[in-house]
Amino acid sequence: MKRPNAAYKNLGEFVTALERAGELKRIRRQVSAHLEISRLTDAESKSPQGGKALFFERVTDSPFPAATNLFGSPRRIGMALGVEHLDQLGERVRDLMEITPPGSFRDMLGLLPTALSVTRFFPRRFRGQTPPCQEVVLQGEDVDLGQLPVLHCWPKDAGPFVTLPLVFTRSLKTGVRNVGMYRLQVFDRSTTGMHWHIHKDGSNYYNEYRRAGRRMPVAVAIGADPATIYAATAPLPRNLDEMMLAGFIRSRPVTMTRCLTVDMEVPAEAEFVLEGYVDPDERRIEGPFGDHTGYYSLADEYPVFHVTAITHRRRPLYCATLVGRPPMEDCYLAKATERLFLPLLQAAFPEIEDYWLPWDGVFHNIVVVSIDKAYPLHAQQVMSGLWGQGQMSFCKIIVVVDRDVNPQDPAQVIAKLLTQLDVGADLTFTQGVLDVLDHSSPTPIQGSKLGVDLTARVAGETPRRPIQKPAEKARPSLDRLEQQVTARVPGVVGLRVFPDARRGNNGNTALLMVNVLKPGDRSGREYARQLLDLDILTAFRVILLYDADIDLDNNSLVLWKLFNNTDPGRDIHIAEARCVVDACKKDASDGHLREWPDELTFDV
Ligand SMILES: Cc1cc2nc3c(=O)[nH]c(=O)nc-3n(C[C@H](O)[C@H](O)[C@H](O)COP(=O)(O)O)c2cc1C
Repeated sequence: MKRPNAAYKNLGEFVTALERAGELKRIRRQVSAHLEISRLTDAESKSPQGGKALFFERVTDSPFPAATNLFGSPRRIGMALGVEHLDQLGERVRDLMEITPPGSFRDMLGLLPTALSVTRFFPRRFRGQTPPCQEVVLQGEDVDLGQLPVLHCWPKDAGPFVTLPLVFTRSLKTGVRNVGMYRLQVFDRSTTGMHWHIHKDGSNYYNEYRRAGRRMPVAVAIGADPATIYAATAPLPRNLDEMMLAGFIRSRPVTMTRCLTVDMEVPAEAEFVLEGYVDPDERRIEGPFGDHTGYYSLADEYPVFHVTAITHRRRPLYCATLVGRPPMEDCYLAKATERLFLPLLQAAFPEIEDYWLPWDGVFHNIVVVSIDKAYPLHAQQVMSGLWGQGQMSFCKIIVVVDRDVNPQDPAQVIAKLLTQLDVGADLTFTQGVLDVLDHSSPTPIQGSKLGVDLTARVAGETPRRPIQKPAEKARPSLDRLEQQVTARVPGVVGLRVFPDARRGNNGNTALLMVNVLKPGDRSGREYARQLLDLDILTAFRVILLYDADIDLDNNSLVLWKLFNNTDPGRDIHIAEARCVVDACKKDASDGHLREWPDELTFDV
């Protein structure tokens, strides 16, 4: 397999390669890190194919240049990780697993660690005089995070946030290193928030130090070679050092060097390093922050990172990302993870053919998985397995299709949903952990989950109920439908039939989307009851409720709202073979007592 070279020594080499490839735009005029860089980055990310990487040569009040959107296109993520197509990452992992076959059941469970550890990807020690990341050293009074061009991303953010940091920690128990990407809110010259979510490895190690009542040494690298940056975002098992994954992707080990004021190691070629510690007993309000859900993540208490030294290259480049409603740069990082982890998922679940995390589901809301179904309730078995699997366990909705359906093709999946779904029999509800960023559940970080079985029935399974086709003359026109529904259900202000009746839809395999006035004194349950009672709507097995301001013709918008705003247990109202799904904003009328976050916009 021919592969482009991913072994960039550092960020500078990658930026040069991007520029040569015509993938980087230089902005020479002075720009502000307060909202201006993020506005420009948002517009670039939303342009076709992710636009270009942006290099800001002069940033107000900072001596350092900044770059954004470095990974944000199919071509750039491929260049970053040394592949022409992201599927080649999975192929490389599969090859690696084949040359190091599991020797025992235990190896089988930890397949990737085993495979990586016997190969030559262990990080190396820097052997020269001064590592590039320590060409300039600032300690004591000289530490000033205000010198860095840290972005204030969205108008209602609590302050500037470091958005692409590689946070290095070490287990107190095992000594194993972890590298995670956890944002840092800059509080003042020498302290930041440490936003590791409760389920993440950094947080787990932090708990070890808390229990021992000991200070936790932490080092943060900002800017490194692209494989190393990517590795910090990868959901590896806890016992595996992300620097080995970086070495594997680069086909060359990462060179590490010792920090000067804490007992930690960082990539020697990093642009900036923040050395310091997290105190086990100190917590402070962090956020709000415009997050990759497209909403603000709410303010909450998080540990505080004290910076004891800032070291950097002589001419460092600060790199950042802007997260927000997809598509954004992090979608490409997530896509790399999806492709790289497929063989690992298949090692645990050999029946899995392929899977897809749609961007409108912001990675943790929905996964579509295709399987080679062999026995009754096989789809439900796979759902249960995935809900117990690493960060896949955060997933709110799992849709299972047969192997002849391409899970990455929304048209094929929706066709199955329309023609196959037996609402009364194909939905599995359960409870489980949720991503910290989920806002739909009335209770943070836990809630209901939905499995949707769209596979064909096999021998031994109860057949689906046949779909009742309405008589020809009973199919109402859209105008008549709209007239009757708005007249009989106060609060309904708009309708869309999908697929469009004019495009040959025969009315019995369609979804109905409805704009309603909500929240207020009408709960989703009440709308559901009234809509399900209307004879004129009996042909629609699935009815989706949206707030009045949602453009129902915008497919991406309606999917994004559906996946983000729906708590399956509370918001799916079933009556025999039909259901109403409430994808509106929630408030006390729906029993949602916690704050509902604002949507991200620059227009305030
Ligand atoms: C741009 C970006 C920002 C992220 N910010 C956070 C964050 O602030 N907190 C968090 O827990 N995870 C965040 N993540 C996700 C984690 O980096 C990811 O779950 C990673 O696997 C965590 O590493 P760990 O498994 O070693 O804990 C972010 C991911 C990306 C791509």
